[in-house]
Amino acid sequence: MSNNSNHSYVKEVAERGVRAYRLLRSYDDDACVNLHHGDCVIPPHPVIRNALREVADKMEIWRETKRGGISVELNRYRVGSLMIMPELREAILDDFSKSMPSTFNRTNAVVHIGGGVTQLVAALFNHFRQSNDIILMFAPTYGAFLCAALTVCSNIRLVKPTSNGQITPEHIEKALDECPEAKGIFLINPNNPTGQYFRKEELEKIAHLIIERDLIVITDEVVHKLVLDTNNKFISMASIEVDGKSMFERTITLRSVSKDHGLAALRLGYAIGSEELMNTVRISWFTYATSFNIDDLAQYLAFIALSYTPDEYYKFQQDLLRCHSDIVITFVEDINRRASYEALKAEQVSAGMFQIIDLSGLRGKLYNETILDDDHVLCELLLQDGKNGVGFFPASCGGYDPRDMKLRLTLSSPEQDISLGMKRLDDFVQKVLRFN
Ligand SMILES: Cc1ncc(COP(=O)(O)O)c(C=O)c1O
Repeated sequence: MSNNSNHSYVKEVAERGVRAYRLLRSYDDDACVNLHHGDCVIPPHPVIRNALREVADKMEIWRETKRGGISVELNRYRVGSLMIMPELREAILDDFSKSMPSTFNRTNAVVHIGGGVTQLVAALFNHFRQSNDIILMFAPTYGAFLCAALTVCSNIRLVKPTSNGQITPEHIEKALDECPEAKGIFLINPNNPTGQYFRKEELEKIAHLIIERDLIVITDEVVHKLVLDTNNKFISMASIEVDGKSMFERTITLRSVSKDHGLAALRLGYAIGSEELMNTVRISWFTYATSFNIDDLAQYLAFIALSYTPDEYYKFQQDLLRCHSDIVITFVEDINRRASYEALKAEQVSAGMFQIIDLSGLRGKLYNETILDDDHVLCELLLQDGKNGVGFFPASCGGYDPRDMKLRLTLSSPEQDISLGMKRLDDFVQKVLRFN
């Protein structure tokens, strides 16, 4: 893909996202069921609420608080700061170490914090614009990253999706062959919206490619605790070793408390990498410039979330997401059975909070004199002017072809919303099939 056609692909996909958000937002106050949001359905664990109460009680003094015997001096961090609380740094590294081999030496790790993974991605892209380096991203991806790249005029390449949306080592190798000047690759593991996460053999194959070509990897692991497939555990790219070489040296891992702790509003993400690698990328330059960076309250709550959320909380989220995916699939099977036609397709989700529903079975059919030929049109019609409507997110906003007619449903929505939304989708499908 030439530079120009790549830029227009990135722009086109980013613009689809902005257009979809604008459309969906305009129905937020209506009787429409919102199945397009990106929030967690479970409130943060009570440890967060208790910590907030504790801080609120001390607001006047605003000096220190104690949790589990650790005293945190809040007044040192009263204003937003580039500094990371030592306690938070340790909590991040404790959590990260769980994904790493026992030989992992955390003294060599550098941690940066930012306003969520999204701000850190913008910071990294800004760095790569300055260093004139190309990073390869793979569709389907999280659309906000494309807006971040365009905002900082970064030279990222967005590689078109494979026919089933799966990103394979072979797909990555081909993209690297076509762009030998690339400095590195950007992986979302597990992916939004597909939920794909890489198996050990795949990570090793990708690691070989990276080491062989002397590249780096940026890996977004924002939903790594939300793995639903009990047969395959999540493996972090940074933990991979091939031929005695550790991928930690070449990997910047991005995580946040947004998704797996239900704290998206907290705006706290972190980037972890080896000192050698992190010293070559200018992250603070951007985070300092765009906000003065992360305030003490957000740091304290992130510290609590990472240190004290019990494993049962994540398990509860996983069970709920799995159960919601089952509900969607049962609806899809029922709808098709009643229509005696495969109007919809949906597969069991392996990780993350999203379910893709493929409506390509309706492609070319008419609804209210409108031809159903792309996912934005579908999305708009399903909103039904706010009456008995349902809001899904068009999957083309992550890089799928709009004609694939894929919609993204948020599995972390309340069960009653999922059932009502699927019922409304059912009514829509039956109407379309009756008229055609
Ligand atoms: C893959 C992925 N990365 C990052 C984010 C946003 O993370 P943060 O809230 O930390 O900016 C999202 C939000 O949906 C996401 O899906």
